Parts: sequence; structure tokens; C-alpha cells
Amino acid sequence: MESASQRRVVDGADFYRAVAQQFVELAADAMRKHGRFRVALAGGSTPKPLYELLATREFVACVDWAHTEVFFSDERCVPPDDARSNFRMAADALLKHVPLPAEQLHRMRGEDDPALAALSYRQELAAAFRTVTVPRFDLILLGLGENGHTASLFPGTAALREFLRSVVPQYLEAQQEWRLTFTRPMLNAAHQVWVLACGAAKAGIAQRVLEGRFEPEVLPAQYLAPAAGQLIWWLDAAAAARLAAVKTE
Ligand code: 6PG
Repeated sequence: MESASQRRVVDGADFYRAVAQQFVELAADAMRKHGRFRVALAGGSTPKPLYELLATREFVACVDWAHTEVFFSDERCVPPDDARSNFRMAADALLKHVPLPAEQLHRMRGEDDPALAALSYRQELAAAFRTVTVPRFDLILLGLGENGHTASLFPGTAALREFLRSVVPQYLEAQQEWRLTFTRPMLNAAHQVWVLACGAAKAGIAQRVLEGRFEPEVLPAQYLAPAAGQLIWWLDAAAAARLAAVKTE
């Protein structure tokens, strides 16, 4: 089944509100369908305003946090209080401000040995989803790096060719740091995968990934193709500026 891929282009001022509204709708839909909403958060800077908006009085009561489980699609191998930590960013922007039960918050242990942290997260995922196959998230949030990476799937890295394990450690030479990342099978098993890209700096890479030559080893975000799910590219007008005619919502 060809994965369904959509582009949602929203003017900058309304971008995060549009995403937040869809987020709460998806959460409610997941609750109706199976009584839980399981989401993997993205790191980096793009999703932070979304998390902050979801933590406001306007939105915080729109998600049934008591039946939500929060995971991360990747993490830097640093302690949770490190400024580089994706967990710290999400905790400060969102998780400290919502009534999510502690046992439903699944942090990647960036402070541990990368291989052991990846192993323990795979075990945590299997236990939380009660499955020995690939866990199917209701939603995986991702960003888009200016080199075409997503999660911590960077061009030319071994993690791109991982098909058995759901989470792996990956050393990044350029960044001189270890990361933990969801792998392609994990990302493409999700019911919904949302890639958020904002700002003029992402216009070039968005055009290459979405409309350029198909070269996923160079542009890993091109590997995103949920087999039985939906891929939505959320772009603000600036990030979509170089795309062929698209309708701005
Ligand atoms: C990370 C993210 C990474 C990020 C992109 C975009 O750990 O940094 O997982 O994939 O989403 O690098 O980052 P920005 O949103 O900061 O542009």
C-alpha cells in the first residue's frame, strides 16, 4: 500500500496553532480507537513552540494526558539536564506543565553507554507496546535537518541501514557526539509521521527532499514512507517557498 503523503503549508503566524489543533484531534482519535495516545517527540528547535503552545491553558486540557504515553524519536547522548538534551527541551517546554503520569514518560537515557541505552529503550518500547514486533506509534514527530537528516538518521551512517532493531546508537563524526535514534522500520511503522520544517533556512532542503532527485542515502528524510500510515509535511510559508505550486492553508 503506497504510503499517503501530504503537505500542509501554513502561514508562519498560524503554523504552530494549526499543528497543535491537529495534534489534539489525533490524540482524541487515538483515545477513541484504542484508549491510549502514544507519541514520540522530536528534538531540535522547530518543535519547541509547538510544545509550549500545547502546554498553555488553551490546549493543555485538550489532551487526555492520563492515557498518553510520551517517547522520543531520538536523543543526544548527554545527561538529561544538558542544554543539548532533547528531553530537557521537551520537559521545559511541555512535560513539566502537563499532568502526564511519570511512568508514562519514556526518556532515552542519554547519560548511559549508547549501546546499553539503545538496548534498554528497545526493551522499554516492547514492554510499553506489549509487542515483539515493531511498535506502531499513533504519532511520531520529526524535524528536518539542513542536510536532509531526520531524527538522528544522518547521511551515509550505519543507522540508515538498520532493519532489525527499532532504536540504535549512532556516532556522528561531524558533531563529535553519540546519538540514539529510531530506525527506518520504526518510523515507517507509525500510523502518522509528521515532519515539521519552518523558516527560510529550510526552503532549499525541503525542495530537494520533496521534489528533487530521489537519493535517500544522501537525504535520509526521503526514506520516510509509512507502509500503512500517513506522512504529513508541515511547512510554514517560508520553508515551502521553493516548492512547486502549493496551496498555503
Ligand atoms: C535533533 C533532532 C534533529 C532535528 C533536526 C532539525 O536531535 O536535533 O532530532 O533531527 O529535528 O536537526 O533541527 P531544528 O528543528 O533545530 O532545525
